[in-house]
Amino acid sequence: FENVLKDTSLNKHCEKSSKLTEYIVECMNKYGICVLDNFFCEPRAGDILNEVKSLRSQGAFTDGQLVSQPATTGKVRGDQILWLEKNDKHPYITSFIERLDSIVMDCAKKLKQYQIGGRTKAMIACYPGNGTGYMRHIDNPNEDGRCLTTIYYLNKNWNTQTDGGLLRIFPEVFNQVADIEPKFDRLLFFWSDRRMPHEVLPTYKERYAITVWYFDTEERARAIRRVQNTT
Ligand code: OGA
Ligand code: OGA
Ligand code: MN
Repeated sequence: FENVLKDTSLNKHCEKSSKLTEYIVECMNKYGICVLDNFFCEPRAGDILNEVKSLRSQGAFTDGQLVSQPATTGKVRGDQILWLEKNDKHPYITSFIERLDSIVMDCAKKLKQYQIGGRTKAMIACYPGNGTGYMRHIDNPNEDGRCLTTIYYLNKNWNTQTDGGLLRIFPEVFNQVADIEPKFDRLLFFWSDRRMPHEVLPTYKERYAITVWYFDTEERARAIRRVQNTT
């Protein structure tokens, strides 16, 4: 597992290739984590960042809230977020979502353990850099339907020594953590369930990421039925 980062990192992805989906599927089956660097490359990745920053400067973000815990436990999570769907008001974020959808759907055909169908909106998250992070948690501890977490990082010249902000994953089956730097133009995949507890370490510089969760069709349908039965 020492080499999980090396093993799960592939370096050039500006061009879409069939190798890419094979590679992601192989990593996910082996490690449950996959890291892709240079996902869009410049200038596109920079365009996405500028769009995100412009939305933030318009005051569109609100404090991140937990679904499962009241907002008053404020220290759990120190990011500010904005949920977006594809829309021509933000063409570059839209093109990101489209490319991600297309890659995940290609992978879905080869991923045996899930039938991926549908996703959340894209969550744009910014840690303002005042030392907040996100306490250790599991994205989907209670079968709400989310099976795959995808995070796209947008932070140029990130220096973990001074900026903090590592994503630390504690994979259930390996007795070693995976530290992921939130580097510019890096795309990360990991399973959303109890196999992948993780935390965001205190962050001392503005830290931007776009997160999309993909659903497993059956688990999602069950979760929706559960909610309907209790309301
Ligand atoms: C949660 C959770 C991530 C999200 O609060 O339980 O999974 O979807 N949060 O906002
Ligand atoms: C989350 C989360 C990790 C990151 O929002 O649920 O764990 O690196 N984010 O931003
Ligand atoms: Mn998380």
